[in-house]
Amino acid sequence: MSGTSEAPVGDAAIEAGVAGGAAADSPLIAQEVLVLDFGGQYSQLIARRVRECGVYSELLPSDISVDALREREPAGIILSGGPASVYADDAPELRSELLELGVPVLGICYGMQAMALKLGGRVESAEIGEFGRSNLHVREHGKLLRDLPDEQQCWMSHRDTVYEPPPGFTALAASDESPVAAFENVERGLYGIQFHPEVVHTPYGTDVLKRFLYDVCGADGRWSPASVIDEQIAKIRAQVGEGKVICGLSGGVDSSVAALLVHKAVGDQLTCVFVDHGMMRKNEAEQVVSVFRDHFEVPLIHVDASEVFLSRLASVTDPEEKRKTIGDQFIRTFEDEAGKIDAKFLVQGTLYSDVIESGAGHGTAVIKSHHNVGGLPEDMDFELVEPLRWLFKDEVRAVGAELGMPERLVWRQPFPGPGLAIRIVGGEVNEERLDIVREADAILQDEIRKAGLYRELWQSFCVLPVVRSVGVQGDERSYAYPIVIRAVTSDDAMTADWARLPYDLLETVSKRLINEIRGVNRVTLDISSKPPATIEWE
Ligand code: XMP
Repeated sequence: MSGTSEAPVGDAAIEAGVAGGAAADSPLIAQEVLVLDFGGQYSQLIARRVRECGVYSELLPSDISVDALREREPAGIILSGGPASVYADDAPELRSELLELGVPVLGICYGMQAMALKLGGRVESAEIGEFGRSNLHVREHGKLLRDLPDEQQCWMSHRDTVYEPPPGFTALAASDESPVAAFENVERGLYGIQFHPEVVHTPYGTDVLKRFLYDVCGADGRWSPASVIDEQIAKIRAQVGEGKVICGLSGGVDSSVAALLVHKAVGDQLTCVFVDHGMMRKNEAEQVVSVFRDHFEVPLIHVDASEVFLSRLASVTDPEEKRKTIGDQFIRTFEDEAGKIDAKFLVQGTLYSDVIESGAGHGTAVIKSHHNVGGLPEDMDFELVEPLRWLFKDEVRAVGAELGMPERLVWRQPFPGPGLAIRIVGGEVNEERLDIVREADAILQDEIRKAGLYRELWQSFCVLPVVRSVGVQGDERSYAYPIVIRAVTSDDAMTADWARLPYDLLETVSKRLINEIRGVNRVTLDISSKPPATIEWE
């Protein structure tokens, strides 16, 4: 700690009972550890892991003003990794003031190198980089690696390397290619690790984070997603007052949890509008109605608009036109209903990842444009209520479970706004094709659930290409559609890998699809990853 700073760090902070504050629009949490983003691919994951340790965390740009940071009184700061070399001209700067706030700081990868360089350590670009799994050899455990094994695996992704720690720092560990893979200066509350504790390939990564969060920052680990419920309810009440609120319910987990939170806050001031475009999965519309209207007794308008959607889709085959048509009709139908309610507020299930990805930080989230299809236009004359904008997807599920939402709804895989329409490709959407793809989807989900794989997959669904091929069924020649099975694993839908479904499962699904659905005589498996393919076919 610099000689001028008087704020206590580490144990001293615990003794002094230092608790973090929060910015005006952030949740009112007692303690937070802020992650400063230097552009690393895992930055979001660091914040998620910190929260999993029971400590509220947000991701902020690395150039955030020092005053803004100081105002939040964080219990600790984590400097993320980043793609730049610390010697690059445009390398994001680590300002010395950040290390002198009297708040403990943990630098990860780039964050560690930048700290080392700033404080007089020796950082050089290594001949060979260190990418992927590596071995960490702990020489001295210090405070950061206390009670952790002397030898452990870790995940590395760097070329610049710390060769000597800054004066006053203790080198704690080395790895195969990094002479100084961890260091600390307990007095100053400054710590650095070259490896990535946030990825699963670093088995003791969470323990290292916990040492920092609990032992160094003095956090108590008591935050949980459910702990935001009461606070959000109070906030919603304060925002909405006596006003009327409207929520477009899609049946997905985000809008459902958002709606339930708002209903808990303001009861029947909320009306949900469920625009049923007729392109939902099997039984889904009925489930939405029964959960919301019957079980939770939320005022719900169920608009069965399938006829108008289908008639507008007749002869539309171009994917973009299809999306536009559905999006446009969705808005018209929603506006018709909203007009009858005269609401001032609109609930949106914006998530923290949307906020981060839009780069909006503390401003308003700009939702990815294609996700707006089947959503609402930005210029509607409503004030937004966004009770989930500080939560990650998993946390939203936890809140949903806490609110008593049925397991099926809580764990529902994502489903696109335009529904099954974008899974009928190369031909027009009509009732016959919708029935086929809906039934196929139900069979696939059924078998995937039976195999216990539903939660492991980001999405699993069927696509109906409008082509027909010859087959032989019984003694007869058939001329029918193929069904494509698409199943992917992913963390955030930005990238995805095709899921290695077991052959036995594929065989059962294939048999059932062909035997049970008239009009299907062939089944294929999509084995493309994203990129270069996308998850959906249109
Ligand atoms: P792609 O196909 O672009 O999809 O890899 C990424 C994720 O987004 C979902 N998706 C949508 N979600 N409205 C939505 O709410 C849409 O128009 C839409 N289009 C795609 C898709 O299912 C996947 O999870």
